[in-house]
Amino acid sequence: MRTTYIITTLTGAALALVLSNGASAQDDKVSFEKDIYPLVKNSCLDCHKPPYEDERGRTRKPKGDLVLVSKEGFEAGGEDGAIIEAGKPEDSPFYAMTILPIEHDEHMPPEGKADEWTDDQKALVKKWIEQGADYGDWVIDPDFKE
Ligand code: HEC
Repeated sequence: MRTTYIITTLTGAALALVLSNGASAQDDKVSFEKDIYPLVKNSCLDCHKPPYEDERGRTRKPKGDLVLVSKEGFEAGGEDGAIIEAGKPEDSPFYAMTILPIEHDEHMPPEGKADEWTDDQKALVKKWIEQGADYGDWVIDPDFKE
């Protein structure tokens, strides 16, 4: 009687754990379009958008040859190559450069030039890369669609 009770309770607990893990894994999946791209748009695009003419008619090119408005641009990377290595945030300049000391030459965004990502935002970017750097259905920022 008592043993049965314990076994039933344990099975129930195990089942609840499995179910809640399954559910939270779903909720936990970082969305590129909803969670990550808005951070890029706010802090990175001033310098990493397609070439454009400034008010004096001069052509402004993306810094480091890196254009962050489409999946194609993210995958193409910059002049130094790939910026994201799926599963490896520390090897992904897209994340790694944002966690360098703020005064470091290669810190992104450069000090004082755009909004710094908060620690929570950096953690989210890290998680997105750990989860495989999946863009979901996102292909391009509609503002830059030709
Ligand atoms: C004020 C301009 C500016 C902003 C804003 C900016 N960057 Fe940059 N970024 C640069 C410059 C300049 C370089 C090139 C550095 C070099 O070549 O020495 C660069 C290079 C990079 C590179 C390396 C590309 C390569 O292959 O050389 C990455 C990755 C990068 N930026 C990511 C970001 C991210 C992510 C953000 C937003 C959080 C951001 N940047 C915001 C100016 C900017």
